[in-house]
Amino acid sequence: MESLNKSELSQWIICKNKLKSLSSFRSIILFITIIVLIVISSGSIKLKPLEEHRIYLYSKYKNATSFIFFNSIEKQNKNFTSTILNSKEKKTFDVVLSYYAEDQAFVGRYIRYIKNVSSLQQLNIRIIIYNKNSNVNNTQLKVNLKADIVYGLSNIGREGATFLYHIISNYNKLADHIIFSQAGVEGINDKGLDDWYYDRLQNQFNSSLGYMPLVVNHMISKDMCGHHPTGNFLRLVDLWGMLQQTLCPTNGFSVAFRGQFLVSKQRILQKPLSIYKYIYEIITGHNTHWIHTDPRAPPGFYSKPEQPVFGYVVERAWTIIFNCTGLDLADRCAQKKCGCYD
Ligand SMILES: *[C@@H]1O[C@H](CO)[C@@H](O)[C@H](O)[C@H]1NC(C)=O
Ligand SMILES: *[C@@H]1O[C@H](CO)[C@@H](O)[C@H](O)[C@H]1NC(C)=O
Ligand SMILES: *[C@@H]1O[C@H](CO)[C@@H](O)[C@H](O)[C@H]1NC(C)=O
Ligand SMILES: *[C@@H]1O[C@H](CO)[C@@H](O)[C@H](O)[C@H]1NC(C)=O
Ligand SMILES: *[C@@H]1O[C@H](CO)[C@@H](O)[C@H](O)[C@H]1NC(C)=O
Ligand SMILES: *[C@@H]1O[C@H](CO)[C@@H](O)[C@H](O)[C@H]1NC(C)=O
Repeated sequence: MESLNKSELSQWIICKNKLKSLSSFRSIILFITIIVLIVISSGSIKLKPLEEHRIYLYSKYKNATSFIFFNSIEKQNKNFTSTILNSKEKKTFDVVLSYYAEDQAFVGRYIRYIKNVSSLQQLNIRIIIYNKNSNVNNTQLKVNLKADIVYGLSNIGREGATFLYHIISNYNKLADHIIFSQAGVEGINDKGLDDWYYDRLQNQFNSSLGYMPLVVNHMISKDMCGHHPTGNFLRLVDLWGMLQQTLCPTNGFSVAFRGQFLVSKQRILQKPLSIYKYIYEIITGHNTHWIHTDPRAPPGFYSKPEQPVFGYVVERAWTIIFNCTGLDLADRCAQKKCGCYD
């Protein structure tokens, strides 16, 4: 055995120290690399939903037919256009209902009552049903309800998505006036339309009507820019800014619940198609869409594509969309001048 001599030993110690500092240098580099990797990966985790959403939108646009609709609607739309062209003399009036599982006898009665309102009988009236229930046969529904047309739509985005879909896909061929409503209509009884509902259609509706809520007066109330006793839907403030191009007024605006209203083609066309498309993209967000985990949504709601919390925001946004937000709206409805006229 040969022991190290003094100089060899000191050489060895220097070398060992060098190695030691090198290895601690390495571990520092390793440590930094790990930190950098963690930061980068957590960054990409944060960005992922947005990126996913972009990819999703892309594939959805490419595959719109397969994703959204389980029925072809193009052919029927073409048929519809010819109906409009053939009846130029009469103003057109569509009743657009969002159907899921409502009692068909009930909905059929509502349709009969509507067709029996004499002010509407002078118009070219059509009943359009959007069936969002794939277990309900469209052909049978059309017969049972005596509807003019039934479209099938995927059950996403609540009634707001249905209405927006109708507006988007008919933007250049809208009827002069349209009733939009959930099929579970509020405002009918065993004998006919409730008095207030009938009076609005028969006496308050006329050719210059822009927007009219079709809900009972106490469903028309004041929203303080997203703050309301029924829940704080702060995204209304964003929608206000986008739709009105001003800040939300500090004294609030009128809101009418339930998604039951009558609107003119003219009011719809006052907003560009791109705005309806944008709101539609959000309200029909896929289950990974950020809208379902929106921190600006009220707590206590579980959001999913069939029942997005944003659906309640859109329900509250129609007065903003159609520019009928005056704080006297409920009073005017009580005085039987329930709407905004052009
Ligand atoms: C899009 O459509 C193509 C062909 O129709 C299909 O192969 C593909 O799976 C669809 N993608 C999605 C995301 O539905
Ligand atoms: C299309 O129009 C024709 C002729 O007006 C009519 O007989 C047919 O029922 C229409 N189809 C639909 C799906 O409404
Ligand atoms: C239709 O309306 C008239 C009043 O305008 C009413 O007398 C009649 O009962 C109504 N019919 C139906 C089926 O609602
Ligand atoms: C829907 O009902 C019609 C008429 O009853 C029938 O001919 C058709 O096959 C049904 N469609 C489906 C998908 O069950
Ligand atoms: C429609 O009704 C409103 C409110 O009563 C009225 O101001 C307007 O002049 C009417 N328009 C027409 C064309 O009758
Ligand atoms: C909205 O309505 C108000 C009157 O209530 C009007 O002054 C304003 O110009 C309208 N805005 C749009 C975008 O039409």
